[in-house]
Amino acid sequence: MNILLLGSGGREHALAWKMAQSPNCSSLFIAPGNPGTAQCGTNLPFAATDFEAIKKCCADNAINMVVIGPEEPLVKGLVNELKADASLQHLLIIGPDQYAAQLEGSKAFAKAFMQRHGIPTAAYGEFTGDNFEAGLEYIKAQKLPVVLKADGLAAGKGVLICTTHEEALSEFTQMIQQAKFGAASSKVVVEEFLSGIELSVFALTDGRHYVLLPEAKDYKRIGEGDSGLNTGGMGAVSPVPFADDAFMQKVITKVVEPTINGLGKEAFDYKGFVFFGLIKVGDEPMVIEYNCRMGDPETEVVMPRLQNDLVHLLTAAAQQKLEGISIQKDPRFATTVMAVSGGYPGDYAKGFAIDGLQNDAADTLLFHAGTAEKDGSIVTSGGRVLCVTSFGNTVAEAVAKSKDRLVGVSFEGMYFRKDIGYEFE
Ligand code: AMP
Ligand code: GLY
Repeated sequence: MNILLLGSGGREHALAWKMAQSPNCSSLFIAPGNPGTAQCGTNLPFAATDFEAIKKCCADNAINMVVIGPEEPLVKGLVNELKADASLQHLLIIGPDQYAAQLEGSKAFAKAFMQRHGIPTAAYGEFTGDNFEAGLEYIKAQKLPVVLKADGLAAGKGVLICTTHEEALSEFTQMIQQAKFGAASSKVVVEEFLSGIELSVFALTDGRHYVLLPEAKDYKRIGEGDSGLNTGGMGAVSPVPFADDAFMQKVITKVVEPTINGLGKEAFDYKGFVFFGLIKVGDEPMVIEYNCRMGDPETEVVMPRLQNDLVHLLTAAAQQKLEGISIQKDPRFATTVMAVSGGYPGDYAKGFAIDGLQNDAADTLLFHAGTAEKDGSIVTSGGRVLCVTSFGNTVAEAVAKSKDRLVGVSFEGMYFRKDIGYEFE
């Protein structure tokens, strides 16, 4: 099978690494990819949102399957575009269509879906310029802190947790009346604050059936002890020690099954990954968000633990044949630690040479994220630069291996959290 994978981050390196191991993968192309994905297949120089180039590539390379890594092309309707092309009717596609991708692309759409299907989530109200005054009154009546969410995609910045009513009213006004997050905040979801520990649960669905992939916990804050600004993710751990069998059973019956059944009842066109952003409140799972793709850096621990042939699973998902397939997982802990550019998640410089990439350690995996090739060497090209995944019989053992490996890697301004998995030691 000839496969085109879209995206360029650590998630895509981990997906490419896993797909390339499949006997069902004859050629793997990645667009635009990064120097890590180039070790697994052939990188092609076009963006994951360049629909015309994607269609041309599918025709030119006799592509059988397209796997869409990031959310942006999904929310912009890539799946619809591919399905509308008469010459691409044979394509297997991993990713929901534009309507279904609103589960990630519109917070209000996702909340309404959860309400229709009785899926536990925070109480909320939904406001635009048309019911702005009602929004102000709703906010004043909320307990603190109160959560404001730009409805649309806002590059991970659209969620504000406000500790006073004055702050919430001011932010709400800026979001709706001054387009603080552009068109994404012309609608705002105001939500009850939930207190608990977060985890990420992943399903692969064919729209009717699903398989549950290993769960993971990611570490979003830049600083140790979960302090400082939010990032795309500084590390991840899988399995998650507090997600024991009893809790995961609740996740399945209260969240995963009602969601997948809801996709079916509403005839969504959804063949792909569902990422459940959950919070454990007391002993109960609540949904904070849906994403219609895998997480990053969660993928960098989920894929190494997955023992099934990924291409086989994706083919079954695209063909609506997931029923009866069981998932095999490596029972050990996998952890990943992300090395980032100095200054991230604020401003940072790019183009620094990276040393120590070649010193492969036996049981660690180095995934590229924001790297690029320049004049024959590998340089930094993003905030999150690379991550190292390791296995261990305990979280601490796995994290220690990742940190050891990272000590052998260097670039100007490099920073990584030394405390990934700290609460499980
Ligand atoms: P989201 O973009 O929806 O994932 O939100 C970003 C982060 O904001 C989440 O990972 C949570 O840490 C936090 N968050 C979102 N909604 C809530 C909520 N209702 N209660 C508490 N924290 C929240
Ligand atoms: N690590 C969280 C995300 O991928 O959205």
